[in-house]
Amino acid sequence: MPDKFYITTAIDYPSGLPHIGHVYEKVCADVIARWHRGIGDDVFFSTGTDEHGQKIERYALKANEKPEEFVGRMSKKFIDLWKSLNISYDSFIRTTQPQHIKIVQEIFKKIYDKGDIYKGLYEGLYCVDCEAFYTEKDLQPDDLCPVHNKKVEKIKEESYFFRMSKYQERILAHIQNNNDFIQPEARKNEIINRIKEGVKDLCVSRSSFRWGIPLPVDEAHIIFVWFDALLNYISVLDYPEEKFRRYWPADIHLIGKDILWFHAVVWPSILLAADIELPRKIFVHGFINIKGEKISKSKGVVIDPKDLLERFGSDALRYFLMREIPFGEDGDFSEDALIKRINSDLANDLGNLVYRTLAMVEKYFAGHIPVVDILDKTWRQRLEEFPLQVNNYMAQLKFNLALESIWKIINLANKYIEDTKPWTLAKENKAQELKEFIAILVKVIRTVQDLIVPFMPDTARSIKEQFGEKKINKQKPLFPRINTA
Ligand code: ME8
Ligand code: MG
Repeated sequence: MPDKFYITTAIDYPSGLPHIGHVYEKVCADVIARWHRGIGDDVFFSTGTDEHGQKIERYALKANEKPEEFVGRMSKKFIDLWKSLNISYDSFIRTTQPQHIKIVQEIFKKIYDKGDIYKGLYEGLYCVDCEAFYTEKDLQPDDLCPVHNKKVEKIKEESYFFRMSKYQERILAHIQNNNDFIQPEARKNEIINRIKEGVKDLCVSRSSFRWGIPLPVDEAHIIFVWFDALLNYISVLDYPEEKFRRYWPADIHLIGKDILWFHAVVWPSILLAADIELPRKIFVHGFINIKGEKISKSKGVVIDPKDLLERFGSDALRYFLMREIPFGEDGDFSEDALIKRINSDLANDLGNLVYRTLAMVEKYFAGHIPVVDILDKTWRQRLEEFPLQVNNYMAQLKFNLALESIWKIINLANKYIEDTKPWTLAKENKAQELKEFIAILVKVIRTVQDLIVPFMPDTARSIKEQFGEKKINKQKPLFPRINTA
């Protein structure tokens, strides 16, 4: 039986169109999922949309739609975009699905019956965009939320509270004893410090608006959207049925840095209260800025991923995001940088290697791929060692370094063509040398093809088609140069 591997992304708020940050996270998760499939793991990859709560209710109202219609229409935008980006999820969960609602109510009831949920009065500050409670000390001057720079709201309402404080010590110990639980390291330390400042009980119901899952124990309340949303990670597996037993605990919850508290503290507390095993790893990716600025719809700092895909294609965007940004760090997006990568790495380096090799197989061997033993020691060694190195980086989630190594070999192969001057071999009738030379190039390309599958599935497929088992099947260049003049 192969190893199982369960990876999740955050489920996005479909309050607006998907942005480049959403794209980045889903591409990272997809690369990880595809790599694990490639090494033979039995992968389950989930993503979805987070459809309840005050924020969604307000955006629906703004759009003049009923919340259920609004989320239906908006979640489709995410599904469509993931399709054009080749996001190979196994399940897309929408938190308005009956199966999810039922599980959230069951878990709520279980924790309530245990005595870990009690009724009280919530009075404090709330950021609707974060769907999060804040205290004064977390805010920017003028009561601005640290994430959205928007004024937080004062709320005062009857609420149910979850005894999260009860789990503070166990969670702190778990994080400290399991070095891999929260990555990267800096994020782990950040959360340890915050936990040490104290974990308070969490308000887990709202009663001043209606768009949410009713409390099984009090119809006047709905369940706080985060308590609802986090449970997607097990409802998508039909907790507690077969799929859950097969895939839980999650091997990686991939999330952005603004929602770390919910995943590192709130989620483990819920799981402990419900007697469910904790996930193996929470990996925090960085944030994408646009030309150095925070994404902001109101300030016009946005780009439309759909437009990027139409103009540059899915693989180019995927490559750019994975190559340019060290996983775990913040990164910057600009169209100039994307075009530079396309022209140099994709059109020039990879595209040319493939195209020139195809042209030579055509010209010197009438399209038949020569079969010879590779005698050259240097190349034999390189071809053996570099896939190991790449896979090493992949296993460590160092995607930019994996791509860097792949490009090193691509460029060595390009240099090999320039140094060898194949036309002179042809002219001098050095058939054996010419054969071995082409065989080396084809072997490099096939190895590269295999290693780029997780990053650029379309390109990998095209290369595979063009280098058939015995003959080539030359198509148009993989990446046409983009004219910037
Ligand atoms: O937080 N760069 O949804 P969301 C990179 N529904 N990642 C970014 C980003 C950026 N500029 N902006 C946001 C939510 N993200 C909740 C999650 S999970 C049970 C519920 C990331 O649509 C963000 O950190 O606001 C999160 O991981 C994901 O996009 C969805 O953000
Ligand atoms: Mg957000």
